[in-house]
Amino acid sequence: MSFVEKDVLVTGGAGFIGSNCVKTLAKMGAKVSVLDNFQSGSIENLKHVMNKIRLVNGDVRDFKKVKRLVDNCDSVVHYAANASVPASVDNPVYDFETNVLGTLNILEAVRQSRNDVAIAYASSAALYGELTKTPLKEDLCTNPVSPYGISKLCGENYCRLYYKTYGVKTVSLRYFNVYGPHQSRYVMFDYLRKLSDNPNRLEILGSGKQVRDFIYVADAVSATLMTMGIPSAYGDTFNACTGVGTSVLDIAKTMLDLLGLKNTETVCTGKSWEGDVDILVGDPSKIDSFGFRPKYSLSEGLRELIKWYTKVFPTKLRLI
Ligand SMILES: NC(=O)c1ccc[n+]([C@@H]2O[C@H](COP(=O)([O-])OP(=O)(O)OC[C@H]3O[C@@H](n4cnc5c(N)ncnc54)[C@H](O)[C@@H]3O)[C@@H](O)[C@H]2O)c1
Repeated sequence: MSFVEKDVLVTGGAGFIGSNCVKTLAKMGAKVSVLDNFQSGSIENLKHVMNKIRLVNGDVRDFKKVKRLVDNCDSVVHYAANASVPASVDNPVYDFETNVLGTLNILEAVRQSRNDVAIAYASSAALYGELTKTPLKEDLCTNPVSPYGISKLCGENYCRLYYKTYGVKTVSLRYFNVYGPHQSRYVMFDYLRKLSDNPNRLEILGSGKQVRDFIYVADAVSATLMTMGIPSAYGDTFNACTGVGTSVLDIAKTMLDLLGLKNTETVCTGKSWEGDVDILVGDPSKIDSFGFRPKYSLSEGLRELIKWYTKVFPTKLRLI
């Protein structure tokens, strides 16, 4: 699918993945509009593309605003959401309104509009819940264990339904652990923050053996934009993952290598946060069959993340 001169609406475009997507689309020659309420996103994330995009401060729960924007676009990449599991546990109604109603507003606006607008929906591996099978395939039963997992599953179901019932062109991407520049939370950011404070000691939450499928943000964005252009992908769901499991201890080791920190002591706390599962690795074969291959190795991706971190935050850490 060519995005050259196309009007693309990116909801949540000031957030971590959204802002990386906006940058990619702007480079591809798209005319990008961003809808964001800055709940967790920031203008800082968009500073290098500000002169190339249209920024709308607004909420996906506001149907009229969504409709006005959708009326004037060719495709939508829908990232706006509460993306935090703990926040969804604290406030499930807010999570529902943002993630489910917000998604329904996008779909309904497209249905009431020209109806030929393609929509990519950012779903999540969180909807697999406590399944013990590995690697996780799209056709497994889902078993979400948080309001966030339920709201993401609900959004996916609406996307499928809107395609089957109304012909709205949707694709859902189940993102695994996306990482990269502009990500100001989770394990890698946490390590960098701790190492900036004290490069001699790194505390790792839990046993260190928790295994995750880390996908670099540019790869997650490529997978998303690629599937939007494939008619046989419409109404369907795809894991956006690498299929490679890496423990959080191995992440720490790779990071320390990249930073040239040879003598840092790593200490595992033993106890992690409630609900932290041992292993979450996806099977990428479905999206692979459409020709998608991640381009970034873990160490290449981590290098990009560290480059960004050392530019933006006060730190003595440096890549070697
Ligand atoms: N980061 C990951 O590893 C990951 C994994 C699975 C799924 N996802 C999904 O990808 C999407 C982006 O995640 P992220 O990590 O970039 O999170 P993020 O919090 O950085 O981005 C979400 C963006 O949406 C905006 N937003 C929130 N509520 C809004 C509302 N009501 N109206 C308009 N804008 C609103 C926020 O301000 C923010 O800019 C989310 O839908 C998330 O559920 C992310």
